[in-house]
Amino acid sequence: MKILITGASSGLGAQLARQYASSENELILLARRADKLYSLRKELYEKCQDVSVIVTDVTEFETLQEKIKTIENLDMVILNAGISLGHNQDITPIAEFKKLYDVNVLSNHAILEILLPKFENKGSGKIVFISSLASLFSMPSSKVYSSSKRALNAYAEGIRYKYKPKGIDVLTILPGFIKSELTDKNDFDMPFLLDTREGVKRIKSAIDANKEFYPFPLRFYLIIRLLNLLPSFLREKIVNSVS
Ligand SMILES: NC(=O)c1ccc[n+]([C@@H]2O[C@H](COP(=O)([O-])OP(=O)(O)OC[C@H]3O[C@@H](n4cnc5c(N)ncnc54)[C@H](OP(=O)(O)O)[C@@H]3O)[C@@H](O)[C@H]2O)c1
Repeated sequence: MKILITGASSGLGAQLARQYASSENELILLARRADKLYSLRKELYEKCQDVSVIVTDVTEFETLQEKIKTIENLDMVILNAGISLGHNQDITPIAEFKKLYDVNVLSNHAILEILLPKFENKGSGKIVFISSLASLFSMPSSKVYSSSKRALNAYAEGIRYKYKPKGIDVLTILPGFIKSELTDKNDFDMPFLLDTREGVKRIKSAIDANKEFYPFPLRFYLIIRLLNLLPSFLREKIVNSVS
């Protein structure tokens, strides 16, 4: 399988590369930090000799598109690159808000604008969106991040309706907290925090099983579902008591 992984220089993306590294797979690792990508390629060499690297900033859409244009016969893209603004109650400066949307939402469309026609011509392909449980519940301290991932869910849903009948699988993975550089910045107790290896093992199982919508860990997901069922005045009380 030929697989493109965005945000492969650390955290979930790097661990996904480790889990997909095998003699049967060809990996393309994309991110900004060249040193991290090349050292990951070296680390994977024993298990997978076919690893290439694309060093680019996903918010530079034209350059990004130029760089991925040359990829042929791709079987799967894992759209994993993402950022958070940490957790704070301040009003987000517009430049930071825009940057987050460029990475978490628009860059995925920049990539798919190139890849969708290729998958369509091939009559097969798999698109994996790495969303978040945060897309299902908005806390005041992470509203910008939550809203970006909710936008991603809506975009993924539309893509799925259109392209599934054309043989293209579209999966949305919604992880809770998993240890990574992104969560290392959080200075609060993260409920149901998973170790990187365990979290990514679950993501890979869901991808391999073709789960179209995979929120996890289940207990955290059920709590969020329950909160969403409460009357809004009660939900408001709970949110304000924990934030
Ligand atoms: N960890 C969690 O608890 C959790 C939970 C739910 C969802 N997620 C999602 O999982 C994904 C991976 O996050 P993570 O936790 O593994 O965090 P991470 O370790 O910080 O990884 C983020 C990755 O995105 C890349 N990236 C960020 N900005 C980029 C840009 N402008 N251009 C190119 N690449 C960029 C980073 O690479 P460079 O810095 O080298 O460019 C890095 O490889 C994100 O979409 C995140 O929202 C994470």
